[in-house]
Order: sequence, then structure tokens, then C-alpha cells
Amino acid sequence: MSERIAELLRRKEKYLWPSYFLYYTEPLALERGEGLYVWDVDGHKYLDFFGGILVTSVGHGHPKVLERVKAQLDKIVHTSTLYLHENIIALAEKLAEIAPGDLSTSFFTNSGTEANETAVMLAKAYTGSHEIIALRNSYSGRSALAMNLTGIAAWRPVGSEIPGIKHAMAPYCYRCPLKATYPQCGVACAEDVEDVIRTSTSGRIAAFIAEPIQGVGGFVTPPPEYFPAVAEIVRKYDGLLIIDEVQTGFGRTGTYWFGIQHWDVEPDIITMAKGIANGFPLGATITRPHIAAELPKKGLSISTFGGNPVSSAAALGTLEALQEEAPPERVAQLGALLRQGLEEMAEKYPLIGEVRGLGLMQGVEMVADRATKEPSSQAAAMMLDATKARGLLIGKGGAFGNVLRIAPPLTATEDHIREALEILDHAFAAVQDVLG
Ligand SMILES: Cc1ncc(COP(=O)(O)O)c(C=O)c1O
Repeated sequence: MSERIAELLRRKEKYLWPSYFLYYTEPLALERGEGLYVWDVDGHKYLDFFGGILVTSVGHGHPKVLERVKAQLDKIVHTSTLYLHENIIALAEKLAEIAPGDLSTSFFTNSGTEANETAVMLAKAYTGSHEIIALRNSYSGRSALAMNLTGIAAWRPVGSEIPGIKHAMAPYCYRCPLKATYPQCGVACAEDVEDVIRTSTSGRIAAFIAEPIQGVGGFVTPPPEYFPAVAEIVRKYDGLLIIDEVQTGFGRTGTYWFGIQHWDVEPDIITMAKGIANGFPLGATITRPHIAAELPKKGLSISTFGGNPVSSAAALGTLEALQEEAPPERVAQLGALLRQGLEEMAEKYPLIGEVRGLGLMQGVEMVADRATKEPSSQAAAMMLDATKARGLLIGKGGAFGNVLRIAPPLTATEDHIREALEILDHAFAAVQDVLG
């Protein structure tokens, strides 16, 4: 470890909570980013295929984002939502343009957690019910409510305090909770949503909340029949369908602007954050006007910083860059290239249990044994170190910490994908060699 990194680590350990955990055996300290590349404090260059947890959707320092932000900084940084400001309105118009169905009215906050909080509050206000169905293996954020919605124990450090939240089975085919096999299973996991409503709630729910692809949960991608079946059940019990697009939104999954569109289902509420503003803090909750209209009847709600002129400027620049340089059809093409390369590696390396995902959101589940599917968090951790040593940054996740998360900025080129695949191939070979 370089002296500079060791010194930062010492100071971090003294002054930042130990909750800030770091990737890599030898932590990485970043200093600069440009496009798809970042540089550490010692001048080493890395191809960034994790984008700060799927945030830098148009790459680091994108001129369309920075120019708008810089121009806004010179005018006014903060107004509050007590006064009209062009940026928040223009952004809401833009979201209405790309959102599926008739979702057309937005509330802005500062994070994915708050976007989900807002969605659940609205669903409760609209339906008059208070019970929520979430999924096991999901991640919703770090507020008390969001931790309670989350279905991974490790991300619920202070336990469960909020009543009225029940978890249904995750549509996790590789590790099917019913030990069934798709498609013979008839997507029985979807029926569990109804079982949970019938057996563990009052029978009247406010909402069902889910990510189209479970992000932190390891890019778990439900089968095509899952969301249509669940949407029908949720509506039967008068609940709203909240879809968390914090990771999957803005073309990440290719072909469509929002992940849920792959399942041809129209949500009642969509939540967004992360990639929306390329690194500037912003959360958004979009819904239909008649649903949003219920909240003010119950009381007041405000977010001081939510949708501020600077973050909104960044989002407008990000969306412009995405539309012009990385629209969903282009992401689908790049995703196919990435997927094909990963599938080829799965043929070669037995420590790869499954490759899954959509578009530029591809997960690789690492196993100690393909037959037993025993998860290997060790292999995943070794892959992170091995890719870093070769100049590539990727992420990991999954309930067992054994899933590689590969999610570059959507402005990646074919050459970037090939460069990453070559590094991944060498890294898999090295890790497979050690683990046997
Ligand atoms: C799907 C999903 N929802 C919500 C959140 C919470 O977002 P934030 O960390 O911005 O509060 C995350 C964060 O990883 C997420 O992946």
C-alpha cells in the first residue's frame, strides 16, 4: 500500500465511522475521473465498470452535465420549493416524457431512500391502508422504513421496528426459494405475494414494492411472467405497485428507459435516484396526478434540498447526454456484447455459477461448486482484487456477497466493453487457478 493511501486510511479510521467499509484488500483512493476512467492518488488508471454504484450513468465529468451545473452555480445554488424554479419544472416534464404509461407528476428528494419513503407515504395516503409487501433479497435504503423494507439481514443492522411490512419470496431462479425449476415452476413465487397478503396482513395493502432487478441483492432478474402476475395480485387487493428504479432506471437495462418496461407492466409509482444526475444527489418519485393529489389532503410535506437548481441542472444534463449518446437501444447493443463475453467465460470457468441481468447491468454469481451452488464470497473478493490489479473496477453484492456486479457508465463504447472483458478473462483465469 502506498504511503499516501496508508495515511488516508489512518485518518479515515480515526474520524469516520467504521460503518464506512471499503472495497479491496488494499483500499483504493480515487482522485480524478474522466469519462469511463478514474485515477487513484498514486496516478494509477482504472476502467470504471461500477460507476460509484451505478451512479455515473454518462461517465465522469461529462461536459453536458458540468456545463449546466457550472452555469447554475453562477446564477443561484438554492431557492427552496417555496418559489418557482425553471430547472425542477423542466426536469419533471422530462421525467413525464420518458416514464411509462401516464406517470406524469414528480416529487424530488435527495436519495433513493427518500424516494422510497415518499412512495410508501403516498401509497398509504392514497389507499388509507398501511401494510406493505416487499421482497426478500431486496434493498430499499437506510432510513428506518427503508431498512424495514429491505430483505437482506446484513443491511438491517438495527433490527425491525416498523410494523405492517411483510416480505414475500424473491423471484431468484438460480436459488429458487421453492427449490423449483423455471419454467416448470409456473412462476409459483409470484403466488407467494398473494399468500402473504391473505395470511399475514389485514387483506388490504397500501403497496407492493420491488426492484425490477434486485441490485444490492446480486442483480437477481425475475422471469418474464413474474411482474405481470404480481401486478394482478396487488391490484386485486387494492394496493399500489411501487417499482424502485434506483439502479435500473434511465436506460440501464437497455431497450427501455425503465427496467420494469421489460415486463410490460405499468407501475403506479416509480422511484429513482443514483444515475439520474450523474453523481449529484437527487431522488425522484413519479406517479399519476390523481394519486399525488391525495397527499396534500392529509397534510404537508416538503424536502428542503430536493430537486434543488444544481442537482436538477445535473439531471437535465444527464438526460440530454443519455438521449443523445446512450439511448436505451444503444445500451441494449452494448449489453449484448458484455453478456456474450461473460457467457463465454462461464463456459471456461467453473467458479461462475450464473451470468444474469439486462443491458449494462450484468451480474456473475460465483460458486465454490457448480453442482451444489455453494456460494463463494471468497472467489468474488478475489475477483475484485484481481480486476483492480489489472486496471478494472467492478462491484459485488448478493445475499452471500458472491455476485460480481458489472455496470459501466451507459456512455461506454464497444472498445471499453472489450477492454473490460479481456481484464475479466485474465482475472477469472487467475482466480480459478488459485481456487482450483
Ligand atoms: C434499489 C435501491 N433502492 C434504494 C436505494 C437507496 O438509495 P440511497 O443510497 O441513494 O438512499 C438503493 C441504494 O443502493 C438501491 O440500490
